[in-house]
Amino acid sequence: MNDSKVIVALDFSSIDETEVFLKKIKGQNCKVKVGKELFTNEGPNIVKLIQQYGFETFLDLKFHDIPNTVSRAIKASCNLGVWMVNVHASGGGQMMLAAREAVESSSHKPLLIAVTILTSFDNSSYQELGFKNKLQEQIAYLALMSEKSGMDGIVCSANDVPSIKPLVREKFQFITPGIRVANSDDDQKRVATPENAISNGSNYLVIGRPITLSDDPATMIDKINLSIN
Ligand code: C5P
Repeated sequence: MNDSKVIVALDFSSIDETEVFLKKIKGQNCKVKVGKELFTNEGPNIVKLIQQYGFETFLDLKFHDIPNTVSRAIKASCNLGVWMVNVHASGGGQMMLAAREAVESSSHKPLLIAVTILTSFDNSSYQELGFKNKLQEQIAYLALMSEKSGMDGIVCSANDVPSIKPLVREKFQFITPGIRVANSDDDQKRVATPENAISNGSNYLVIGRPITLSDDPATMIDKINLSIN
């Protein structure tokens, strides 16, 4: 087990492409994340491959369904031996409690995290959803509901951490995507640098394209680890 706060998002389409990348970062101090594209294409074999390379896996399938279905999906995730799994907090308290029970009844117990509001939303795209709370209020509301419903932490923007951290217990974990090492212009709207994310109180940084599209991903991981240690 390594102690890095960096989770590399393996947003690849196939096991072959992923293995080319894993070879480049083998032995690096980081964890990795498998999302919907890779898991839909390759299934549980991808988790086995990652385990062979010695990395811990965050299975980022963001479950959001009726409590029974989510409970069964979480149970299946636990059986894969992953390090972290997640659900959408907006699936509700009953759904999150069912997910917690599924973890507790499994012999392998990954960290169980809830997504608040995706970091690709800004104020104007969020308003289109028609929620009555403002974006920041809704994030805090979902964070508190997640804590009450037995989650180990939440996924949110690093910029949201300082306002939420004082509201929750000390060990509540903050997993923050939307990390950018230099000025960038893409679909992520609520972004932060690795240094800012850590000083804001993030526990883990989810970083995709800044590492996966880099010419030398291993060196990029080293640099990011150094910048936040
Ligand atoms: O390439 P980039 O650094 O934007 O990758 C971010 C990763 O984090 C993607 O895999 C995306 O699915 C994930 N993610 C996110 N926002 C969330 C939860 C997960 O961007 N709220």
